[in-house]
Amino acid sequence: MKSRAAILWGVGQDWSVEEIELDPPKEGEVLVKMAASGLCHSDEHLFTGDLPFALPIIGGHEGSGVVQEVGEGVSWLKPGDHVVFGFIPSCGRCPSCSTGHQNLCDLGAAMGEGRQITDGTARHHAQDQDLGLMCLLGTFAHHTVVNEASCIKIDDDVPLDRACLLGCGVVTGWGSAVYAAEVQTGDTVVVVGSGGIGANAIQGAKLAGAKRIIAIDPLENKRERAMDFGATHTAASLEDALPLVTDLTWGTMANKVIMTMGVGDGTALAPALALAAKRGRVVITNVHPALEMQANVNLFDLTLWEKQVVGSLFGSGNPRYDIPKLLGLWREGQLDLDGLVTKTYTLDGVNEGYQDMRDGKNIRGVMVYS
Ligand SMILES: NC(=O)c1ccc[n+]([C@@H]2O[C@H](COP(=O)([O-])OP(=O)(O)OC[C@H]3O[C@@H](n4cnc5c(N)ncnc54)[C@H](O)[C@@H]3O)[C@@H](O)[C@H]2O)c1
Ligand SMILES: [Zn+2]
Ligand SMILES: [Zn+2]
Repeated sequence: MKSRAAILWGVGQDWSVEEIELDPPKEGEVLVKMAASGLCHSDEHLFTGDLPFALPIIGGHEGSGVVQEVGEGVSWLKPGDHVVFGFIPSCGRCPSCSTGHQNLCDLGAAMGEGRQITDGTARHHAQDQDLGLMCLLGTFAHHTVVNEASCIKIDDDVPLDRACLLGCGVVTGWGSAVYAAEVQTGDTVVVVGSGGIGANAIQGAKLAGAKRIIAIDPLENKRERAMDFGATHTAASLEDALPLVTDLTWGTMANKVIMTMGVGDGTALAPALALAAKRGRVVITNVHPALEMQANVNLFDLTLWEKQVVGSLFGSGNPRYDIPKLLGLWREGQLDLDGLVTKTYTLDGVNEGYQDMRDGKNIRGVMVYS
């Protein structure tokens, strides 16, 4: 069939919205009519080359839609079912999945090439070339074919233009606070970067019972919005936050520091560690340029005060459990999804959406497809 998608043909080139040829789903695969896709910063890393996945690639990994057709052997989904995609697939059988770490499923190994998990071939083509799929999904498209391992079925009454956010940003940010940082009641938490991920880290820290949440962002509009999501204080930089956190905590500093800047920066690690308490934990959620090998760390911080540095992928949780769980919190009014969506776009607005991200206008932009 024919559909339309936003393709990145080369680093630094605009997304090209054009017709694609889509093959039917093979065994274990699902054809989905897309409803909406969030504009996460990780797709911007494809554009800058910081995330070196094979090109050409259809972008987008924060999507929701309606199943149109299932391939042979897909027994648990049928046409009409509503799905959110997990940006990491989960097979349920590998060592990570079977020990409660679906976010690290071995099927994620296929992401660099972006071809179908089943046989390594492409279902998506344009201009006589095979196309890769961002995170094996390609949600910047009106239709896509993905592996069943990427699909999470959701209730029909959840608005799909909000549900899409659970495919990456909400689970990533919330889980960075709740699972990776293990925020405890009464903790002082610093969240560095108040975009799509940071806003959800703030929401997670608040629900976990943080006493104070200090949101750091150079942009005033982001700092203002951070207060809406539950921040108690703000600062414009890591350096500005140092006297503030020192003062607030009487020098005992923050129990948790969660890094969610647009682009990770190795030189930010020392000032982040300086904000952390004894046995305090710094969580690295932001994606650093793939070739960055240097970080600025005073290792005294680790030995003498037992400060910890941990990474976090997809909120360090289990998408099959956490996506329905967080939608349940949204139903009860304990998780704000509406407030995350600053502006909506059509598929043709993808470049405008990313320009708005670069200009710092959005918490999240969302493309809504009719
Ligand atoms: N680990 C994961 O599983 C995962 C998943 C999704 C996204 N990410 C990554 O998380 C990061 C954030 O993504 P996003 O979609 O929220 O991006 P975003 O662009 O929406 O937000 C980033 C925010 O960081 C702020 N910022 C920039 N420089 C800063 C600095 N020096 N100090 C403090 N704040 C600063 C920006 O003003 C912006 O508000 C990206 O690197 C993205 O690739 C990681
Ligand atoms: Zn993302
Ligand atoms: Zn697995």
